[in-house]
Amino acid sequence: MTVHFIGAGPGAADLLTLRGRDLIASCPVCLYAGSLVPEAVLAHCPPGARIVNTAPLDLDAIMAEIASAHAQGLDVARLHSGDLSIWSALGEQLRRLRALGIPFTVTPGVPAFAAAAAALETELTLPGVAQSVVLTRTPGRASAMPGGERLAAFAATGATLAIHLSVANLARVVDDLTPFYGADCPAAVVFRASWPDERVVRATLGALAEAVDPAISRTALILVGRALGAEDFSESRLYAADYDRRYRPQSAESPWVGWRHGDD
Ligand SMILES: C[S@@+](CC[C@H](N)C(=O)[O-])C[C@H]1O[C@@H](n2cnc3c(N)ncnc32)[C@H](O)[C@@H]1O
Repeated sequence: MTVHFIGAGPGAADLLTLRGRDLIASCPVCLYAGSLVPEAVLAHCPPGARIVNTAPLDLDAIMAEIASAHAQGLDVARLHSGDLSIWSALGEQLRRLRALGIPFTVTPGVPAFAAAAAALETELTLPGVAQSVVLTRTPGRASAMPGGERLAAFAATGATLAIHLSVANLARVVDDLTPFYGADCPAAVVFRASWPDERVVRATLGALAEAVDPAISRTALILVGRALGAEDFSESRLYAADYDRRYRPQSAESPWVGWRHGDD
C-alpha cells in the first residue's frame, strides 16, 4: 500500500501530469484538498473509489483516513492544488507517514505562479531585467512569517515577486513594495489562473489596488517586477547566432566539437 501525493495543478483539469492522472486512476481511495482542487480531476478516480474532501478535516482525521486505507491495503491518491513543494502541508503529512512507516511517492504539479505567468503571456526572468523569482506570501491569520522573510527584504533585490495568499492585503503589499520598485513598475493580479472564471488585472504598482475588484479576496496571485510586460531587454545568449555551445559549435576549434548528447 502506498500514498501517492499528487500536485493537481492550478485549476484547469487538463493541467494535470499524465503520471498524476494515471496514479489517480489506479487508487481506490482519493483524498483531495477540496478548497482548490478542481472536481473535474476527480473524474479520473476509478469507479467505486472512496473520495474524501479533506477541506473540513484536521490533520489527525486525514491521517486516520490514510491509516484506514493502509490497514485494508488500499493505495491512496492524495491531491493538493498546484505543486506540492509550496504551501501544500506536504511536509507535516510526510513526517507522520515516515514515523508510521507508510510508503509514499510524490508527483509534482503545475504551480499557480506558472499558470498566472501563462495567463499574462510573460516570462518572469528576462535577461538584464530580472533573473530571480521570489515565491512568497505575507503573514496570515494562521501563519506568521519567519523574521528574515519580510517583503521589503525581497523587494530590495529587484527580483520578480510572485506573492501568494495575500490579495486580501493588497493595499499593504503595494505600500511595502512601492519604495523599492516605484509606482510605475508593472504589476498584475491573476485570479483563479486557468479556471473558467480566470481574471487578469494588469496595472502599474501604484494603480494596482484601485484596479482590482475588492470582491477578489482569495485564490489570486500578485505579481510585481520590471520583467512583467518589459519589451526593452537583451536577447538571451543561448540562442545568439555567434554563441559557442555544446549543441552548436561555432568553429572547428570549438571545445564542443565531437561532444555527443549524453557526454558530460
Ligand atoms: C495554499 S496556496 C497553494 C499553492 C499551490 N501549492 C501552488 O503550487 O501554486 C494557495 C494560494 O496559491 C495561489 N493560487 C492557487 N491557485 C491559484 C490560481 N489558480 N490562480 C491564482 N492563484 C492561485 C493563491 O495565492 C492562493 O492563495
